[in-house]
Amino acid sequence: MRIVLVRGDITEQRVDAVVNAANSSLLGGGGVDGAIHRRGGPEILAECRALRASQYGGGLPTGQAVATTAGRLPARWVIHTVGPVHSGSEDRSHLLASCYRESLRVAGDLGARTVAFPAISTGIYGWPLDDGARIALRTVRAAPATLVEEVSFVLFDSTAYAHFERALGDLGEIVDTP
Ligand code: APR
Repeated sequence: MRIVLVRGDITEQRVDAVVNAANSSLLGGGGVDGAIHRRGGPEILAECRALRASQYGGGLPTGQAVATTAGRLPARWVIHTVGPVHSGSEDRSHLLASCYRESLRVAGDLGARTVAFPAISTGIYGWPLDDGARIALRTVRAAPATLVEEVSFVLFDSTAYAHFERALGDLGEIVDTP
């Protein structure tokens, strides 16, 4: 599976599945969540509401992932996942790793070949970018083989991009820009 870094806006990615840094309500928010719902349109929220009315009555638990339509985005699906809020006293790294692992599993189950991730939890949820990048790349690199052929990490600013570039280098991988 190829890993590429992209500097840009995740709502503009022409991929099979776009991963949303959601919250457990699945009813939208700011950051990536706000951008995806704004640009993707009401169909996404309608399917999120249906999920809340059925198997996710209590909300989507942290670390889990679920797919909906991508609405008007240039993608087929949005995979919503809920990252952990960073804590200085409790190690929640396993929950952040679970977001990437579960999103990839859901993408593979859908038959997605290309998946775009944001830097989950590194915005409003306050996760340090260097550690968030390390967890993201190690988890994706170690994920079980699926149908997914390419994973892109879409970084909104040059600081985030630099952190992911360094983390990719630490994995002994060259940075492969599309
Ligand atoms: N494209 C790509 N990356 C983006 C975009 C975008 N359009 N907008 C923001 N980002 C970056 C942020 O700079 C940050 O590095 O995505 C990363 C994740 O930031 P958030 O979207 O704030 O997500 P997170 O930290 O996981 O917090 C989730 O925020 O929006 C709410 O409803 C959401 O409650 C949930 C919380």
